[in-house]
Amino acid sequence: MSERPILEVEDLKMYFPVKSTGVIRRTVGHVQAVDGVSFQVEKGQALGLVGESGCGKSTTGRLVTRLNKPTSGAIRFEGDDISDISPRKLKPLRREIQMIFQDPYTSLNPRHTVGSIIGAPLAIHDVVPKNKILPRVQELLEIVGLNPEHYNRYPNEFSGGQRQRIGIARSLTLQPKLLVADEPVSALDVSIQAQVINLLQQLQREFDISFLFIAHDLAVVRHFCPEVAVMYLGKIVEIADRDTIYGHAHHPYTQALLSAVPDVKQAEVGGRRERIRLQGDVPSPINPPSGCRFRTRCPMAQEICARVEPPLMQIGPRHKVACHFAGELGQSPTRPVTTSVLGVDDQGSPAGTSPATPVPTGPGYDQQWFDLSSQQVISA
Ligand SMILES: Nc1ncnc2c1ncn2[C@@H]1O[C@H](COP(=O)(O)OP(=O)(O)O)[C@@H](O)[C@H]1O
Ligand code: SF4
Ligand SMILES: [Mg+2]
Repeated sequence: MSERPILEVEDLKMYFPVKSTGVIRRTVGHVQAVDGVSFQVEKGQALGLVGESGCGKSTTGRLVTRLNKPTSGAIRFEGDDISDISPRKLKPLRREIQMIFQDPYTSLNPRHTVGSIIGAPLAIHDVVPKNKILPRVQELLEIVGLNPEHYNRYPNEFSGGQRQRIGIARSLTLQPKLLVADEPVSALDVSIQAQVINLLQQLQREFDISFLFIAHDLAVVRHFCPEVAVMYLGKIVEIADRDTIYGHAHHPYTQALLSAVPDVKQAEVGGRRERIRLQGDVPSPINPPSGCRFRTRCPMAQEICARVEPPLMQIGPRHKVACHFAGELGQSPTRPVTTSVLGVDDQGSPAGTSPATPVPTGPGYDQQWFDLSSQQVISA
């Protein structure tokens, strides 16, 4: 892909301060909601961002749309870093990057008509003359599959699926280039979910919109996103193209999430279908586990996992994974695969050898990667 990605996120962090109670409120810690996340979205493409509740997906979305300002890291939109720009420069950016929210019940003002909800951004940004607003609103209603004559109705006169269409129409008002869709179908009945996803897909093709599509399970993004990133406790643990994620996931957390997707075939080991069941809840991001953050729930965790954080290594042309025992389900290696890269022994202690090639931490993929079977860096 020669064209520059529309969005590049590099080493993005968002630490929310935790204050003590009492008269003098001191900062006593930080919620590490997003902790060093890198990814990119190609123009006109869709990246899925998946993980359980609380792992930092919405925060990532709010940083990309600059509803929050990141603690550190870069957010390059069409090549320009927007992570630290002034409020004055943010206003035009609001036209280019829009967000669709999960809950169509709370994200629409019940006292405003659908026409004024969808038309509001046009008035605020002063993009069309007043007498052109209604025709534009009606056009948008038609685009999202609603009756253009219903512009005078209120949100409570519509069903859940219809309200999400209203939310989508509002997000399209200013013809954005990038849409951050934060669990846009999670609140909808399963029968309606597919319709709304089809609508988004159709809009993507028609208007060449790029998507960051957030979901809490892998089933939802499967047909929409050619590329998927899996997040756990503020970090990306695996990112790959669709075939690799659904057919050759190497991270135990991805494999566990896949166990819940009905039509994904997983490895059979000794005649039975291998499944990983997740136990317990996601630990607190204020005090995340040492080493690998997934270790408190990982069935494969060993000593090295508590001592050394596994780097997000590229292990194929479009595949990165962060696990000391990365391997396909049922075929995980008995020895850690990261020792030569990190310069540690099997328990995670310094081995006295210098680490192999440094692990690239940027967004996107390199032309060379660490091949797990040969333990060598190989080139495309
Ligand atoms: N404004 C905030 N202040 C403090 N903590 C926050 C704030 N927003 C989110 N968090 C915390 O950050 C973590 C990630 O939240 P979020 O990004 O909403 O996760 P997700 O969307 O994946 O469910 C959670 O532990 C959440 O409680
Ligand atoms: S690094 Fe260790 S704890 Fe983390 S996912 Fe891999 S095996 Fe599990
Ligand atoms: Mg969320």
